[in-house]
Amino acid sequence: MEQYELDAIRGITTRPAQKYRTIAVDTLTPVIGAEISGVDLSQELTEEQLAEVKAAFLDHHVLVFRDQTITPEHQKRFAGHFGELRPVNPPPPEGDPYILEISTTPEAENVAGNGWHADGTADAEPSLGSMLYITRVPETGSGGDTLFANMHLAYEMLSPVMRDLLDGMTAVHDGAIAFQGYTPPPGYVIPKAEHPLIVRHPETDRKILYVNPAYTGRIPQLSADESRALLDMLFSVVPRRPILSCRVRWTPGTLVFWDNRCVQHHAVYDYYPFTRYGQRVAINGGPLKA
Ligand code: SIN
Repeated sequence: MEQYELDAIRGITTRPAQKYRTIAVDTLTPVIGAEISGVDLSQELTEEQLAEVKAAFLDHHVLVFRDQTITPEHQKRFAGHFGELRPVNPPPPEGDPYILEISTTPEAENVAGNGWHADGTADAEPSLGSMLYITRVPETGSGGDTLFANMHLAYEMLSPVMRDLLDGMTAVHDGAIAFQGYTPPPGYVIPKAEHPLIVRHPETDRKILYVNPAYTGRIPQLSADESRALLDMLFSVVPRRPILSCRVRWTPGTLVFWDNRCVQHHAVYDYYPFTRYGQRVAINGGPLKA
């Protein structure tokens, strides 16, 4: 590895460990993800528990809560501590407008999220984070894991010259890319928004490589060919670097909360023709700045 890549990894792995009093935090990898125990999400968290969960969220970006028995109201109450709830868009035909059902049937040829992406990046104000509560896992006993990648580290592991080149650019994120092959529901206005290519995390100010293959279509400062070549190279960063990722194996009653600003995820569809079911709640974020 190049020295700047080692420096980027060391910057994360040697940071001082946070101390927690009311929760236990077991990291999934040194650079992303943690299992949180000591909280029952069916109960209101104490102020101290909540403050520690928030600190762990900013530190690890993906939090895994196991063995939870919760209702959609509990899930929404927990999510509401992090910001305003984000209505599902396009709205579900029936049921709770804030609950997105993540449901795979035996007939499914593909599933939503089976590719690297972050939720809602084509919106002018992208999602802060998502909370997925899985209650049914494939009958095979394995499969249906979700991968999560640290996009701070993805940025930090680029060469200094590449980081300088990207710093002033923007990228257009277009919901139509994600709809390719599907017909959007009638009346649905497909979102499209331009964001800096490198954004800063609104709470930690750390830089993030903010492009993903599901939504990002064009760097307007470049020619079409240059934009395509640069985006393809940037999209390949996550699959080329396993060090950026952790893998969550779901068990019924697991809730995972991830930060859509600095994390991409990939729901692996390796369990056809079996089933999987969960419910996702998302939280509104603000505009993202360079
Ligand atoms: C998603 O939000 O893309 C779904 C994630 C999953 O099903 O694991």
